[in-house]
Amino acid sequence: KRLSLIGVPTDVGAGHRGSSMGPEALRVAGITQSLEKLGLEVRDCGNIHGPANPWQSPVNGYRHLEQVVAWNRLAHDAIYAQLQEGRLPVMLGGDHCLGVGSISAVARYCREQQKRLRVLWLDAHTDFNTAELSPTGNIHGMPVACLFGYGPEALVNMSGTRPALNADMIRQIGIRSVDAGEKHFIHEAGIDVFDMRHIDETGMRQTMQEALYGLDQDTHLHVSFDVDFLDPDIAPGVGTTVRGGPNYREAQLCMEMIADTGMMASLDIVELNPALDVRNLTAEIALDMVESLFGQSTLVRRNVK
Ligand code: ARG
Ligand code: MN
Ligand code: MN
Ligand code: MN
Repeated sequence: KRLSLIGVPTDVGAGHRGSSMGPEALRVAGITQSLEKLGLEVRDCGNIHGPANPWQSPVNGYRHLEQVVAWNRLAHDAIYAQLQEGRLPVMLGGDHCLGVGSISAVARYCREQQKRLRVLWLDAHTDFNTAELSPTGNIHGMPVACLFGYGPEALVNMSGTRPALNADMIRQIGIRSVDAGEKHFIHEAGIDVFDMRHIDETGMRQTMQEALYGLDQDTHLHVSFDVDFLDPDIAPGVGTTVRGGPNYREAQLCMEMIADTGMMASLDIVELNPALDVRNLTAEIALDMVESLFGQSTLVRRNVK
């Protein structure tokens, strides 16, 4: 496999400054070397350059909408270009507002290649807010709603078709924080949400079997990994920690089962915030997870699915 790392150093969609340093923290943790050790060809495309964070209050329910649109357009174009070269884009965020640009590029590519798309959204949050529903106006809480066609024009139309996604195309895993209005809206939208209660009751193994059910050879599997998916005990370096997430072993199994499909074709690593981290520990843990996503395993595995 040929990978392309794309740094998107911004925090314009978040409520804390610092995820703009995420790409460099992952490089310092050794992401290129780790992936090369697994036998992958890695091209580091460097960082995208975009507008600064003006640190202003929300306007009409959105914070920094203009800057969020600009960053997402840049991310969309960079990711789409790597997909067209037949490479596997790995977006190093940056906050999760960038999921709009990244997944819009993937949706555009899938439409052209006549591939089915399955998005795995690994997150403590559903990120399904709108300007009306959001308690904060932070657009990193809105990318899934935008991809479903609810949000500002420039974001909802980024993939070239509106909506970019529907409920058949996404599974959310690890969810444990949903705002009051968001909760009803996500239910109406019919999205399959494997929340922490589901994981507690059935275990990570069955949860992932359900989330991965129905993939076929024509499916493009996209993983959007919000680092706050992980329990804050192991991953404190994020802006919006929520207690009670997957522990190290559960998260590893989740990643390994994705790797076993052999179908992951694009990846986001978002919300890593080095300003809130302890000695880059969260970057290192996130990298452990990414190694598993790309097939690192303790033993030579037989063909178990
Ligand atoms: N639901 C909260 C909000 O809308 C938090 C969103 C957190 N999103 C994230 N990508 N970390 O502000
Ligand atoms: Mn998120
Ligand atoms: Mn989150
Ligand atoms: Mn390691």
